[in-house]
Amino acid sequence: MTDTGTDLPVRTPLVVAIDGPSGSGKSSVSKAVARSLGLAYLDTGAMYRAATLWVTQQGLALDDAAAVAAAVREMPLVMGVDPTEPGVFLAGHDVSEAIRTTEVSTSVSAVSANLEVRAELADRQRTAIDAERHGRGFSGGRGIVAEGRDITTVIAPDADVRILLTASEESRLRRRSLELHGSADASAVDATRDQIVRRDAADSAVTQFTVAASGVVTLDSSDLDFDQTVAAALKIVSIAADRAPEHGDGERDGAPSLDRRTPAGS
Ligand code: DC
Repeated sequence: MTDTGTDLPVRTPLVVAIDGPSGSGKSSVSKAVARSLGLAYLDTGAMYRAATLWVTQQGLALDDAAAVAAAVREMPLVMGVDPTEPGVFLAGHDVSEAIRTTEVSTSVSAVSANLEVRAELADRQRTAIDAERHGRGFSGGRGIVAEGRDITTVIAPDADVRILLTASEESRLRRRSLELHGSADASAVDATRDQIVRRDAADSAVTQFTVAASGVVTLDSSDLDFDQTVAAALKIVSIAADRAPEHGDGERDGAPSLDRRTPAGS
């Protein structure tokens, strides 16, 4: 495959890892990239949120590390990986909205700091990525975009493309404030600050997502709108995917190339 800049097709199977802080636009950009390339999409933050909801529903104290870890190991979680409609199901119930409440957002860092919880969710995340890589998942062997805080470094350091999506604190606060409160005036931004600044500080104790690890491409979206950010991410994918080494499992050579699809506009 020649290096064609933004002119996809790219080789498949393709694993794209995207990390970044809250409000960087990671989830919407990752979904758009997955839709554009016909890949599955895994929101690992939603898995930590679902775990938080689950242990809360069990009546457990979040600081009871052993009990929380035991409950998460038994958690009946099904992650939908269709980027157009990525549902999150706990014991058969759709909890996509329930995991986005302020209560869950405020307590999720306590659960994601639990190392046994991280080990359990890491196993599930790697299994989901492998399924897409080996033709057992939603994408029919095309691959997956997985996003979170430690995907480029811990979960899939061997991904074909690794991106750290960043944005200045000011633009992250503005975006999340618009999302949560429909406004980016001073009081809305202040009300959002806890969810962005405090949570990122707490999360930084267990994951490193502010500085790109070696081989990870930084994409700063501070001065880009959504479509520009998606276009920039697709360009990074097309260049990096062509340079990625073969996986050596023989599947890649025989796999069909992806046709470029219309990039999603929202
Ligand atoms: O991206 P998000 O806000 O939905 O993530 C929820 C929480 O999960 C966040 O506070 C950090 C944590 N998280 C993590 O520790 N590792 C990941 N790979 C993804 C999220």
